[in-house]
Amino acid sequence: MKRIFSGVKPTGHLTLGNYLGAVRRWVEEDQHRSDALFSVVDLHALTVQHDPARVRRLSRQAATLLLAAGLDPRLCTVFVQSHVDEHARLSYLLECTATDGELRRMIQYREKGARARAAGESVRLSLLTYPVLMAADILAYGTEEVPVGDDQTQHVELTRDLAVRFNQRYGHVFTVPKATHPAVAARVMDLQDPRSKMGKSHENGAGIVYLLDDAETVRRKIMRAVTDSGRDVAYDREASPGVANLLDLLAAATGGNPEALAGAYESYGSLKKDTADAVVELLRPVRERHAELAADPGHVDQVLRDGAERARGMARPLVDRAYRAIGLMPPG
Ligand code: AMP
Ligand code: TRP
Repeated sequence: MKRIFSGVKPTGHLTLGNYLGAVRRWVEEDQHRSDALFSVVDLHALTVQHDPARVRRLSRQAATLLLAAGLDPRLCTVFVQSHVDEHARLSYLLECTATDGELRRMIQYREKGARARAAGESVRLSLLTYPVLMAADILAYGTEEVPVGDDQTQHVELTRDLAVRFNQRYGHVFTVPKATHPAVAARVMDLQDPRSKMGKSHENGAGIVYLLDDAETVRRKIMRAVTDSGRDVAYDREASPGVANLLDLLAAATGGNPEALAGAYESYGSLKKDTADAVVELLRPVRERHAELAADPGHVDQVLRDGAERARGMARPLVDRAYRAIGLMPPG
């Protein structure tokens, strides 16, 4: 069976972007057609200034949300990255495979690094090396497919480069993976700032729909979405990014096609109202199931324990093989 791996960082509350760009497809397709692992990648949440108690809380919440969204531990492996040592073990070998130049070119590093420096903060070294850890997450499992939103394309390309380079130098150890993206809503934009991605930690939450927002809040955020000065409802991501984003959301929530839906609307108001209704209904079952699961933390802990054990069993032999291939002396 095909091996799939993907992850989500507990740097903030999960958003509608995470759901449509990634999690929904893990639930509806990936876990059924493959031997898949889905991880709350908590080590990645330490690359920017963080509050320890908050990361711990958000990790549990993210894991609970993955289950609430429908990941089924009988079909796939759900676990927390830091519970499996192989990620950090392999990451070091890949640091010895990557170059500083290729990491400095990563768009996310350049953007986040520049933002931190502009705010007078120092930049953690792990922000630079983060894509190497991500490559380790993926390569440790012999992953073939990585279902992610558009923003992760460059990181998966780097992962491929590192796998090929390692294999050429030291013999074949790693499978070379490829990224897969959803057909619609691979990049959900901020409702207040539709030229930037809807991210967990934008300063102003008004443009972000969180999976745990109540129905009223979701409705209010969508009704107040920034549209464009034009009148016609047309699907044009360049000229009318706000309207295009609403059409993407509506299409993703109802299974329609954004271009075709554009023709069905005369006004922005009715488009917003239908989009708000569709998103509220889309998220309702996730929020309800989250409340049930959150009331039974013992169950979530058990799922994560089992998941980590399974993941460890899969990664350990492969990472051991990489240790031998690169020239490290095996313990006697
Ligand atoms: P992150 O929140 O950065 O850990 O992302 C987890 C997953 O959600 C990754 O596959 C991202 O590509 C995806 N994702 C995050 N934000 C968005 C967005 N605004 N639109 C589409 N996908 C997203
Ligand atoms: N970098 C990813 C993001 O920001 C999260 C991530 C870490 C990931 N490791 C991964 C995604 C491995 C897919 C596979 O969204």
